[in-house]
Amino acid sequence: MKVRTGGGVKDIRAVWFDKGKVMMIDQRELPHKIVTVSFDKYQDIAEAIRNMTTRGAPSIGATAAYGMCLAALSGVDLDKAAKDIKAARPTANDLFFAVDHMLAGLKAGSDPIEAANGYADMIVDKCTKIGEYGSALIKNGMKVMTHCNAGALATVDVGTALAPMRKAWADGKRFFVYASETRPRLQGMQLTAWELGQEGIDHAIIPDGASAYYMEKGVDLIITGADRITANGDFANKIGTFDKAIAAKHFGIPFYVAAPVSTFDFDTKTGKDIVIEERSEKEVTEIYGMKIAPKGSPALNPAFDVTPAKLVRGFITEKGIFAPKDIGKVKQ
Ligand code: MRU
Repeated sequence: MKVRTGGGVKDIRAVWFDKGKVMMIDQRELPHKIVTVSFDKYQDIAEAIRNMTTRGAPSIGATAAYGMCLAALSGVDLDKAAKDIKAARPTANDLFFAVDHMLAGLKAGSDPIEAANGYADMIVDKCTKIGEYGSALIKNGMKVMTHCNAGALATVDVGTALAPMRKAWADGKRFFVYASETRPRLQGMQLTAWELGQEGIDHAIIPDGASAYYMEKGVDLIITGADRITANGDFANKIGTFDKAIAAKHFGIPFYVAAPVSTFDFDTKTGKDIVIEERSEKEVTEIYGMKIAPKGSPALNPAFDVTPAKLVRGFITEKGIFAPKDIGKVKQ
């Protein structure tokens, strides 16, 4: 991802490996500061996933892969490391996919650094292909809506939902993006809008509650990412996605989900079986440590919701675009 800094334009990833350390952009500091943090223990990697220093399903997967790399380099019990890293967050399939992928490779004798770098490169390659397939959906003059952040920050580089937008814009198409702010962690406002701004893509941040309002005025296409897609095409994504999909159905707006195969969980039959992460109520009742809710009012904070397959027009993957009824082909 190209990032404009005081000293020019830098090409960086969300997470990478350098001189024995796992490096990542601290996504909690964006958009105000670009802060890079480094870790050399797998336990700290698990904590960085849990506290959302790094976030977004494919980036969580790559970070976990680097965590397994650190575990192997330090000679700790790999099965224990795998269990500890998997316990960091429950919903994103990529976390489990990446840890299992690394565990199998390391046990078979793979070089830890090569294996983890290879995993991250593989994700970036898949996202690039998602961009190529998905950009065909975007036409000049369209109004496109997205939710949360499924950009380069969430996927090591390039993005899933944002990949088609990046590619279409680079190809000279001109369109407009509504990025919904994504309460309570504000990934849409603080990360997606920042990424779109870095690319020079026309956009506006809208409050989550304004999605149907703008759909009625004219939205041509909605693309979101996913954290887990089950065998029947139901999918978990950031809380608020389900509302958008229902409203899109009402207005007849095509709703697409962009994700690499690492996000598909073919072992889970339907979305009812997805574990939804419940996060601290403080994320809702406080902003930057300042209490904004009345004393004594509790808050509920589910991090994701599940959208049924019947509301999805298609899944944009590195293998092409598939209707929910054809999801079996993604497995093949
Ligand atoms: O809780 P987060 O920030 O890790 O949420 C994940 C997401 O960024 C979104 O749900 C996203 O749309 C899918 S991951 C590319």
